[in-house]
Amino acid sequence: MTSAAAVLDLPGHAPALPLITVRDLRVAYGEHVVLDGVDLDLRPGETVALLGSSGSGKSTLMRSLTGFAPVTRGTVRVAGHDVTHLPRGGLRALRSDVGQVFQQFHLIPRLSVLTNVLTGALHEAGAVNLVGGFSRAHRVRAMALLDRVGIAHKAKEPARSLSGGQQQRVAIARALMQQPRVILADEPVASLDPRLAGSVLRLLRQIATEDGIPVLVSLHVLPLALEHADRVVGLRHGRVLVDAPAAQADPAALAALYAGEDEHDDHDL
Ligand SMILES: Nc1ncnc2c1ncn2[C@@H]1O[C@H](COP(=O)(O)OP(=O)(O)O)[C@@H](O)[C@H]1O
Ligand SMILES: [Mg+2]
Repeated sequence: MTSAAAVLDLPGHAPALPLITVRDLRVAYGEHVVLDGVDLDLRPGETVALLGSSGSGKSTLMRSLTGFAPVTRGTVRVAGHDVTHLPRGGLRALRSDVGQVFQQFHLIPRLSVLTNVLTGALHEAGAVNLVGGFSRAHRVRAMALLDRVGIAHKAKEPARSLSGGQQQRVAIARALMQQPRVILADEPVASLDPRLAGSVLRLLRQIATEDGIPVLVSLHVLPLALEHADRVVGLRHGRVLVDAPAAQADPAALAALYAGEDEHDDHDL
């Protein structure tokens, strides 16, 4: 963990404080313990791949970071929010600080690409005025983000007309529209072919480094994680089995994450 931080630190500066801190996290649905004793740190600018076979707890860990999982023990801090002890209104404030990207994009298909990006600003007061819809400043920002993700030329097209890779870029621009302090991407490339998967992961990592925000991305495919993440965290039956810089992760430990996977057929949980 320290070496990943060291890579990001400027000489003579104290290590950047983590923006996501999870300690001894336990999540249980009734009797079913889904996460147990999970520790996790993500620092500004760091891309961390969350690995593990289907059912290992990746999505549950992501959900615990936005207050959507039944935490029964431990602490979860995200961008200064104490997720397990949120004050009134705190859930809304937390979720406006967390940009999320999903496997199925979750765009509104009939609306334009630009409008889909603008919906990322909906939590902001003043984003929408009664006469003209979204403010001019927001439209300018949304266009700049579409340019940044490489699809400004599609701004007026309905979202449904875009390819999967393009739709995921729209979803990333929408997440950026809310000026997130962290980004969570749950299987963002599982619906894309390998070439597009690589380009979407490169984009996420570029955002992490350029904007200095941590990106937590869950991935099924190990080589993609090793190529596109600074650090890999591997879950097995709800426990952290691996937490290492991508270049130094122990191949045997990584293989152990998937040992016996054929016994399970519960895909896409
Ligand atoms: N809402 C829920 N109620 C009960 N069990 C759940 C719920 N969500 C997830 N689980 C269980 O938690 C385990 C981990 O699921 P999940 O976090 O979706 O894993 P992954 O994303 O790694 O595939 C699975 O056994 C799943 O059945
Ligand atoms: Mg999942």
